Amino acid sequence: MTLSANEVHHLKHAPAVDGVLPLFHSRWSPRSFSDREVSLNDLAKVFEAARWAASSYNEQPWRFLVGTRNSSAYKKLFDSLMPFNQAWAVSAPVLILGAAKTRFSHNDSPNRVALYDLGAAASYLTLQAASLGISTHQMAGFDEAAARQAFEIPDVYVLGAVIALGYQGEPGALANEQARAQEVAPRTRKPLKDLVFSSWGVPAGLP
Ligand SMILES: Cc1cc2nc3c(=O)[nH]c(=O)nc-3n(C[C@H](O)[C@H](O)[C@H](O)COP(=O)(O)O)c2cc1C
Repeated sequence: MTLSANEVHHLKHAPAVDGVLPLFHSRWSPRSFSDREVSLNDLAKVFEAARWAASSYNEQPWRFLVGTRNSSAYKKLFDSLMPFNQAWAVSAPVLILGAAKTRFSHNDSPNRVALYDLGAAASYLTLQAASLGISTHQMAGFDEAAARQAFEIPDVYVLGAVIALGYQGEPGALANEQARAQEVAPRTRKPLKDLVFSSWGVPAGLP
C-alpha cells in the first residue's frame, strides 16, 4: 500500500531538537511533484533568499538559470538531465540550474570557494522554498556539457546542480519502482560524532 503525500511528508520529518529551526528537519527532497504551478512571486522569494547568502569577498558568484514548464529554458534544462532524473523530474513545474563564477571580479584571480558559495546560496533557496510549502530536489545527474552548450555558459562559470522545484505530489504517481520505494523511506543522517572532530577522526564530544 502506498502512503499519501501527507503521510510521507510527516514520515520524512526528522526528530525535532529543541532550539533548532524546525525547517532544517522538515525540508526533504521528493521526486513526485503535483501539477500545481508555482507563482512567479514565490519564485522571486526563493531567489531573494539565495541572494542573501554569505560569499567570499561578497563576490556573490552564483547565477541561476530558471525554466518554468513549457518554456524553452525548461526544455533545455530537462534535456540535460540523466534519464533516471528525467523519469521523475518530468513532474516538476520549475527547473533551475546553478552556476558559479570561478574568478573574482575585483582582480580576476581564481575563486577557490565559488562552488562552496553557490552551495550556500542553493541551501538558502531550498530552505526558503520549504518555508513556503514548496519542495526542491537537487540533481548532480545532468550532462554539464549539454547544459553549458544549450545556454552558452561562459567557461569562467562552473556548474553546480539542477534543482527541481514545485509542490510535493503523491508518491503513488511515480512510475519507477526504486524511486517510489525511496519516496516513502525515512530520511537518515550520520551522527554528529562521525562529523564533528576535535582532532582528525576523534569526536568533539558534543552532547
Ligand atoms: C548536490 C546534490 C546532488 C544530488 N543529485 C541527485 C540526483 O542526481 N538524483 C536524485 O534523484 N537525487 C539527487 N540528490 C538528492 C539526494 O539524494 C538527497 O538530497 C539526499 O538523499 C538527502 O535526502 P533529503 O534531501 O530528502 O534530506 C542530490 C542532492 C544534492 C544536494
